[in-house]
Amino acid sequence: MTAKTPDAPWHASWLASLPKTTQDEFLGNLTPAELEVYLGWWKKWARPAQRPPIGDWRIWLLLAGRGFGKTRTGAEYVRAMVGMRNARRIALVAPTASDARGVMVEGESGLLSVGPPGERPDYEPSKHLLTWSNGAIATTYSADEPDACAAHSTISPGAMNWRRGATRRLGTC
Ligand SMILES: Nc1ncnc2c1ncn2[C@@H]1O[C@H](COP(=O)(O)OP(=O)(O)O)[C@@H](O)[C@H]1O
Ligand SMILES: [Mg+2]
Repeated sequence: MTAKTPDAPWHASWLASLPKTTQDEFLGNLTPAELEVYLGWWKKWARPAQRPPIGDWRIWLLLAGRGFGKTRTGAEYVRAMVGMRNARRIALVAPTASDARGVMVEGESGLLSVGPPGERPDYEPSKHLLTWSNGAIATTYSADEPDACAAHSTISPGAMNWRRGATRRLGTC
């Protein structure tokens, strides 16, 4: 995509505003490699509500229905933080172990699906561990094993007992 700079107005709403035939023509003119770059270009695709809040914050809650793009937003945020070396040890917390692996890691919007294939992390399911080539790591945790969180200093095991309360319905993915 050498002739096409990140400043080109190719964001998702621009593409969506085109007639379907023009969309197909535009996408059809891209090589497979260009298409992969374009479709993974999160800065262009993210809707305003999927961009990190501005300012000094510690918690970013995305409370929205299925299909909003919560999982993708989380995965893209983690990818960006790892890429900028702003995150080195990450906790990925889900209601169940199956959610952690099947949605946050291996799901269609999960960490193994976002970004260029060469920049994706290695995943060791038996260790619940993802490792990026720059040394950043992420560990998955779930309410299936609340005590495992004791090893991660930022998470309270008590906060992981979602199954006992209404928070189970919220989840994180
Ligand atoms: N801004 C976006 N532009 C294009 N596709 C998106 C965008 N946000 C999410 N998606 C895609 O929409 C689908 C649903 O997203 P997902 O994050 O799984 O939704 P949720 O977790 O809220 O149910 C996925 O294929 C994801 O890649
Ligand atoms: Mg989801």
